[in-house]
Amino acid sequence: MVVSRILSGIKPTGRPHLGNYFGMMRPGIEWQDKGEAFYFIADYHALTTVHDPALLREYSRSVALDFLACGLDPSKAVLFRQSDVPEVTELAWLLTCLTPMPMLENCHAYKDHLNKGKVPSHGLFAYPVLMAADILLYNSNIVPVGRDQKQHVEVTRDLAEKANRTFGPIFTVPEASIVAEVATVIGLDGQKMSKSYNNTLGLFEEEKVLRKKVMSIVTDSSPVEAPKDPSSSSILALYKLCAEPAAVALMEDQFRSGGVGYGDFKKRLFDALWSRFAPLRARRAELASDPAALDAILENGADRARAVALPTMSRMRQAMGLR
Ligand code: AMP
Ligand code: TRP
Repeated sequence: MVVSRILSGIKPTGRPHLGNYFGMMRPGIEWQDKGEAFYFIADYHALTTVHDPALLREYSRSVALDFLACGLDPSKAVLFRQSDVPEVTELAWLLTCLTPMPMLENCHAYKDHLNKGKVPSHGLFAYPVLMAADILLYNSNIVPVGRDQKQHVEVTRDLAEKANRTFGPIFTVPEASIVAEVATVIGLDGQKMSKSYNNTLGLFEEEKVLRKKVMSIVTDSSPVEAPKDPSSSSILALYKLCAEPAAVALMEDQFRSGGVGYGDFKKRLFDALWSRFAPLRARRAELASDPAALDAILENGADRARAVALPTMSRMRQAMGLR
């Protein structure tokens, strides 16, 4: 398949964590050399949960800095704020009119909300349609995401196909790109790492905080001498993401043989994480010291994004009989 456009987004609802990094940011950044990559800060999506304007602005800038610190190169990839191209909300409406309710009733974020007895907003219900608009507006072929977003990309494909059947060939039908080994990064409690579960390790966490969080990883109560199960350990799963293969093999052996306690393994995990992200921390500090440079990158990104979005939008308006 010829790759022309890669696109993904991240919600500015807090600081990115290791799940975001390994599941989406790093694979996304690897794509920037293989095609035209578009990455955006999904601030419209964040509005389903963040209702503090100063905080939303701060998170949006901060996530952009994080992305750049992780290696996004603005001379290759386009980095922009979703709300700088407000046409995406118009496309979301046009797509909404093609979206069967049951398709959205089946989507996991909405179902989880209902299961928890909470009342979902209409924004949360319609969230996958806005995400489809993000993807389709920019004619994206490849969408690098973690496994939790697969369903949303399926919804996007269905809507693109339906629009193309009904109104002619307007949209590229995209595919999710999910890296199997990091499709779901595990959190401190053994569940999926997620901002909403409060079980995350932040990418740019302060040393003390990171150490404390790593030491709080939930384990069973096996004593030091006992052999331990390597397959069910969050410590080992996280260690695999950031340590050298030889160090991982040693830890696996020591799990099996017993004689080393979880506290020791956690210290090793902390050291590996801390040194793995040291160069990124340094780069982030440098980037953060020049806010005007960040503004310029985001403005340039918005211009480049708009240049792709406006023609798609006008094709869709025409096709649907507007104007
Ligand atoms: P979000 O913070 O929900 O905007 O997520 C941004 C990206 O990170 C999406 O592509 C998610 O699929 C990915 N992601 C979030 N949590 C994890 C996780 N625990 N493991 C792998 N990918 C994740
Ligand atoms: N829904 C995604 C998440 O929660 C963020 C997102 C919004 C996105 N629009 C997108 C991801 C378009 C990929 C493509 O992680």
